[in-house]
Amino acid sequence: MNRFIKIPLVLAIVTFLTSALLMVSEDLTHEKIAEQKKMLLLQSLKQLIPAELHDNDLIADAQTIHHPELLGHRKPQTLYIGKINNKISVLAIPATTPKGYSGDIDIMVGIKTNGEITVVKILEQHETPGLGDLIIANKSDWIQQFSNQSLHLTNLKNWKVERDGGVFDQISGATISPRAVTEAIKQTLLYHNGFMQNIGEET
Ligand SMILES: Cc1cc2nc3c(=O)[nH]c(=O)nc-3n(C[C@H](O)[C@H](O)[C@H](O)COP(=O)(O)O)c2cc1C
Repeated sequence: MNRFIKIPLVLAIVTFLTSALLMVSEDLTHEKIAEQKKMLLLQSLKQLIPAELHDNDLIADAQTIHHPELLGHRKPQTLYIGKINNKISVLAIPATTPKGYSGDIDIMVGIKTNGEITVVKILEQHETPGLGDLIIANKSDWIQQFSNQSLHLTNLKNWKVERDGGVFDQISGATISPRAVTEAIKQTLLYHNGFMQNIGEET
């Protein structure tokens, strides 16, 4: 074969193979990240909606919700519903705050029918290691202060970090991330109120 044809042909084949390889590896990475997120969520669900608070299939009863204004959703999200004897016992509500130091922070808040928080999980964040990322449960106990909290215990006016005149601890040297998460939790409590009211009106 003429070398003026052979060299470009070999180059074209190599380029094609390299891009195909890159595409496959990118697909695999995306799949792996999605799989890891799913595992994290399933683990988190066990704490958000503890076994003793539901007897239903959480995945089968999940609903898709999309509330950009109240819950900061950028796309439809999954709401998990724990039920006992077919009556709602706990909701695990996803929310996103764009007010993190480094952009979006995705959280999930478990809230019992009486408005009490089971636990708050940080699902995704990009805050600074050693500063903003102390909002994560395995980096500090900051997030634990919200467990068992409710709008009955702490009213809307006080549902802020101390720096802003509220009752919740911030993290010293990193107020932005805690402020963002604290506000997002308040929003999910408001959503929960509305959701339970609608159910009440329907039944
Ligand atoms: C490199 C760098 C990274 C920072 N990362 C964060 C962060 O992830 N979260 C945060 O709340 N503040 C972060 N801060 C600090 C904020 O800029 C801000 O000073 C702080 O949140 C205010 O908290 P304070 O009122 O307790 O001082 C960072 C600052 C610097 C210089």
